[in-house]
Amino acid sequence: MSLIRVLINGSKGRMGQESIKAVRADAELDLVAQTDLSDNLAQIIEQSKAQVVLDFTTAAVAMEVSASIIQSGARPVIGTSGLLPEQVAELKQLCKQQNIGGVIAPNFAIGAVLMMKYSQDAARYFPQAEVIELHHNGKLDAPSGTAIKTANLIAEARDSVPETIAEKEILPGARGANAEEIRIHSIRLPGLVAHQEVLFGGQSQTLTIRHDSTHRDSFMPGVCLACKKVMELNELVYGLEHLL
Ligand SMILES: NC(=O)c1ccc[n+]([C@@H]2O[C@H](COP(=O)([O-])OP(=O)(O)OC[C@H]3O[C@@H](n4cnc5c(N)ncnc54)[C@H](O)[C@@H]3O)[C@@H](O)[C@H]2O)c1
Repeated sequence: MSLIRVLINGSKGRMGQESIKAVRADAELDLVAQTDLSDNLAQIIEQSKAQVVLDFTTAAVAMEVSASIIQSGARPVIGTSGLLPEQVAELKQLCKQQNIGGVIAPNFAIGAVLMMKYSQDAARYFPQAEVIELHHNGKLDAPSGTAIKTANLIAEARDSVPETIAEKEILPGARGANAEEIRIHSIRLPGLVAHQEVLFGGQSQTLTIRHDSTHRDSFMPGVCLACKKVMELNELVYGLEHLL
């Protein structure tokens, strides 16, 4: 069986470095190239004959980088956060045109995927929810991709949108970001890795679903799985749950 040829883009970053160790340790994957800022990605994809490009860069370049990976004919596995639903739809279309599979996963940790699934279940009974996401203070974008995806799933699953009252924010931003009438609060502190709480409120009760990634290696089984499963896909999927 031939190994799957993987290029890691954003290889000098925190997730890139963790992914190098994981891909090297996986018997089915072959790390054929590593790229970061100032490398010519399209050229190195061609030279290295990479079949899969794993991307952990930054939200500001996520769309541009993802599109260039697809246009080069390699299969994208995108872990970079910050892609908006309309951009995901555009990238799906690009993959379709190229007739290749792809994966975009706002969170590669299995526990986070379960947190989103349970939140979706809970939303059917508790339509009022708020999300608190907590990350290390090096994270540039807010809110996290996981928080946005969780809010989208809750909004899809609930039967009714709770009535809102006229609130007054004494300090702007106090009530967080509003994603489909679900508030998202972003916390950035040293000492954290990646954490999220989804809080539901009902009559005289609350329900909290929480997930904690305490080390970046928590994402690696999902990363390696995506690099393999993407070879069997002929469309771009959004979320690790489609591969489990
Ligand atoms: N999907 C997940 O499970 C998951 C988990 C953790 C982090 N993330 C996301 O992954 C991304 C990377 O996180 P990080 O902590 O490794 O960040 P980081 O800042 O440590 O690393 C980013 C790297 O990307 C490089 N880079 C920036 N622009 C580039 C470009 N145009 N081309 C090539 N390289 C470029 C930087 O030089 C840097 O080395 C973030 O968006 C983060 O939110 C996703």
